[in-house]
Amino acid sequence: MQVDAPAVARGRAFAQPGVATSAWLPVARSRAIRSGRVLGVDAPGGPVALWRDARGTLHAVDARCPHLGADLGQGSVEADALVCPFHGWAFGGDGTCLGAPGWNEAPTRRTRSVPVQERWGLVWIATGPDPVDLPDPSPGDWRIVRPPSQTIAAHPHLVIGNGLDAAHFDTLHGLEPTAEPVLSVDPPRVTLEMRGRAKSRALRRLLGGDVWLRFTTHGGHIATADVEAPVRFRALFTATPVPEGSRTQVVLFLPRGPVRTLRAAVGLYALLHDDARILERVRFRRAFTPADGPLQAFAEVVDGLPRGRS
Ligand code: FES
Ligand SMILES: [Fe+2]
Repeated sequence: MQVDAPAVARGRAFAQPGVATSAWLPVARSRAIRSGRVLGVDAPGGPVALWRDARGTLHAVDARCPHLGADLGQGSVEADALVCPFHGWAFGGDGTCLGAPGWNEAPTRRTRSVPVQERWGLVWIATGPDPVDLPDPSPGDWRIVRPPSQTIAAHPHLVIGNGLDAAHFDTLHGLEPTAEPVLSVDPPRVTLEMRGRAKSRALRRLLGGDVWLRFTTHGGHIATADVEAPVRFRALFTATPVPEGSRTQVVLFLPRGPVRTLRAAVGLYALLHDDARILERVRFRRAFTPADGPLQAFAEVVDGLPRGRS
């Protein structure tokens, strides 16, 4: 039987095991790669070699050497090229082979160049075609905090879509709504504006007021929370596909001032704690009810995105 590959590729993507959508995703901290050094990282689709040339420019290529498959992440930087540790073939940032010991002309084999950029102290690579642009959540010179990444045994789409699941904020996080959530769908983005208040008096006192935030998904693997009250702060969430499920990285953009920052941190905790425990036991069913409209809109947007490596 013949399989219509394009039709398969057009099928549903949302939360499908082993299926990821194209995205910019973090793979390392910028400071882990000094000039003239190589760092091998595990990335969606396989190992990637990152290296920095003498001018400080960062490059990324598929780490599998096109000669006999050695790991270019174990290589070295010589004259701004990445040199394979096995037989010394040298590669440029575009993946072409620039020369090899004993060869008069460079071999024509090449490795795949990987789009790479640096933001907020992290190194980001594109995991597929047409990744959604990275959002720019910070309105100014706010303090950037990068908590350690976490592994959650749940599909990245479910992790990222969690903030659009308006109903769970009351039951799981103890935030009861004080207004109807407002949904806007502008593919590849979905935004839900929510207002609520903590049901626990202790938490309400700590927060210092009602909660008002906009949660936006940017494609299937990145989301931002723009928190307007009780204190303004921003958070960026990423969920990278890994064999266990997701590796999450949060970047916090915090206003200056210790009291305000503490409130921001408590607010974030109130919004996030307990999600992983639930998500790790979800065996997802695509059985949305009308009340799950935002999550359903997200699933439909994700279905239409280009696939990424996983
Ligand atoms: S395997 Fe890389 S140069 Fe031979
Ligand atoms: Fe949650």
